Amino acid sequence: MRVITTISQMQKEVQLLKNENLSVGYVPTMGYLHEGHISLVRKAKEENDIVILSIFVNPLQFGPNEDLDAYPRDFERDSEIAKNEKVDFIFYPSVDEMYPSKPSVTLVVQKRVDVLCGSSRPGHFDGVATVLAKLFHVIQPNRAYFGMKDAQQVAVVDGLINDLHFPLELIPVETVREEDGLAKSSRNVRLTAKEREEASILYKSLTEAEKQIRSGERNIQVIISHMQSLIKQNSSGTVDYIEIYSYPELEKLEVLEGKIIIALAFKFSNARLIDNLVLTV
Ligand code: PAF
Repeated sequence: MRVITTISQMQKEVQLLKNENLSVGYVPTMGYLHEGHISLVRKAKEENDIVILSIFVNPLQFGPNEDLDAYPRDFERDSEIAKNEKVDFIFYPSVDEMYPSKPSVTLVVQKRVDVLCGSSRPGHFDGVATVLAKLFHVIQPNRAYFGMKDAQQVAVVDGLINDLHFPLELIPVETVREEDGLAKSSRNVRLTAKEREEASILYKSLTEAEKQIRSGERNIQVIISHMQSLIKQNSSGTVDYIEIYSYPELEKLEVLEGKIIIALAFKFSNARLIDNLVLTV
């Protein structure tokens, strides 16, 4: 495994790979790797000759009230994990390398951002789109891998790839779950023992909603209310949102049909958890 820290060196390596006709699977991350990232790497390994993983904590996607400096970082640990997973290259640029000065061009995402978590993080997805556009240009992958845990990010990246004609395939990878269905997240360690037990209701409420839809329920409000009462009866935190939209457009549905997302965010005492289910009705 090689660690590359400059854009020019990464571009040279990518050119050599292209010359040899090798396919490149790309896993963009902000580091502090967990099982979710590992599942992306494993899928990328299966489907490509070469896997490039980037680690870059992107300042552009942090809001004024979000603590960029407090974002966890541990390159030694990350590179150990990547090595064990047989990643071929880690692209690990500094902030100065990626943004040597205030960018003269940034992207503004026009759709799919004013709902779900995007509604409380204005500008976040502009930062995500801008850094990914840069990274896609440098790495020129054949396929890029993103976890469906952040389904809104996947929807935004889908728009980015289509609108800017990046010649690459977006591969959404299913959320990795604990045995009781709880989506794996580095935030789960912040749950108390009681909250951890309660947290399984989040995924259960999503699968209950799917069951309701499969048995013919089409009233979105009825489905959301059922989820709300299930969660309320079985846990001590508060629902931030439960929303249902078309997917990946993330638009309001007149009629519950086609590809849809049921998404939720939930606040426990010390952790905000998100989860979702995408299904075709
Ligand atoms: O999901 C993330 O870790 C980041 O948003 C990403 C895709 C690496 C862009 O900075």
